[in-house]
Amino acid sequence: MFTPSVAVALFFVPFALAQDNSLGVQAIEAHFTQSLLVPDLLSSFTPSSLLTVNFAGVGELQPGQALVKEQSAPYPTVKVTPGNSSVTLNGTYTLAMVDAEAPGSKLPEGQTRHWLVNGVKISGNDISNSSAVAVTDYAGPGPAAGSGVHRYVVVLYEQPANFSPPEALSKPGVPVQPFVFSDYVKNSNLGPLVAATYFTVQEGTATVSAVPTSSVISSTLKPAGSSTSKGASGTGSASAPGSSSSNGASTLTVPAAATLFGMLFALVM
Ligand SMILES: *[C@@H]1O[C@H](CO)[C@@H](O)[C@H](O)[C@H]1NC(C)=O
Ligand SMILES: *[C@@H]1O[C@H](CO)[C@@H](O)[C@H](O)[C@H]1NC(C)=O
Ligand SMILES: *[C@@H]1O[C@H](CO)[C@@H](O)[C@H](O)[C@H]1NC(C)=O
Repeated sequence: MFTPSVAVALFFVPFALAQDNSLGVQAIEAHFTQSLLVPDLLSSFTPSSLLTVNFAGVGELQPGQALVKEQSAPYPTVKVTPGNSSVTLNGTYTLAMVDAEAPGSKLPEGQTRHWLVNGVKISGNDISNSSAVAVTDYAGPGPAAGSGVHRYVVVLYEQPANFSPPEALSKPGVPVQPFVFSDYVKNSNLGPLVAATYFTVQEGTATVSAVPTSSVISSTLKPAGSSTSKGASGTGSASAPGSSSSNGASTLTVPAAATLFGMLFALVM
């Protein structure tokens, strides 16, 4: 069934995955649209990198994963992976978690701030908070009973040199409370957005009618590089490091590699 070139392609897929996470970036963009976080929370969403959140006892979360309150109570670990090899994460960042409520609903005061840390650095794939300011330290979800499936969004923004937070949010120790997240981002000069993910927590049975959201069918996502020749050559070269022209990689056509990459991606998702 598998031709030799398919076998070679499968062998090289792990190298391609290590180099290029553009399919992962497309998948998280689709999650944010289909969960209505775009436009409920963000007017647009074009991250350059991937964010993963890990709670002790739960493990690394999938985008949109449903948790119970207790699972998301401990301090999470956050990791960032560049979307491709030309993305550098050597700046200063702001990390936040907000409760974007159930799809289609919104507090009059905006979103509840559960976590806001300025001055974060990235070391390897890890978030380093050793020189950071925890304006609001992590406080796990506590949705009201019957208020539906709340979307907790963890987001990382670039924090430029001209970052200027409002006075009320410029010192540590500010409690969990609502704010208009998009106003905070805009007025503080944060951006661009680097990466984000979300999970959900529901308390009790919803008494509000939920807006239906469709699930993400990752197999419908276009493989990286399928639309432009520039992207296609990027995909081809991504599988090349560590291989010489005599190792059989040259028998791969780029479209075949891209299709396989897409198929495998659909499987692992
Ligand atoms: C890498 O990611 C950046 C940010 O998303 C994007 O602008 C750029 O086109 C990507 N480069 C490649 C080769 O895909
Ligand atoms: C980050 O790395 C890029 C590319 O190597 C470089 O141009 C930039 O000046 C660096 N930024 C900082 C804040 O070190
Ligand atoms: C840094 O992270 C640790 C948990 O790893 C946490 O206890 C601490 O409050 C954090 N500090 C800041 C400034 O966010």
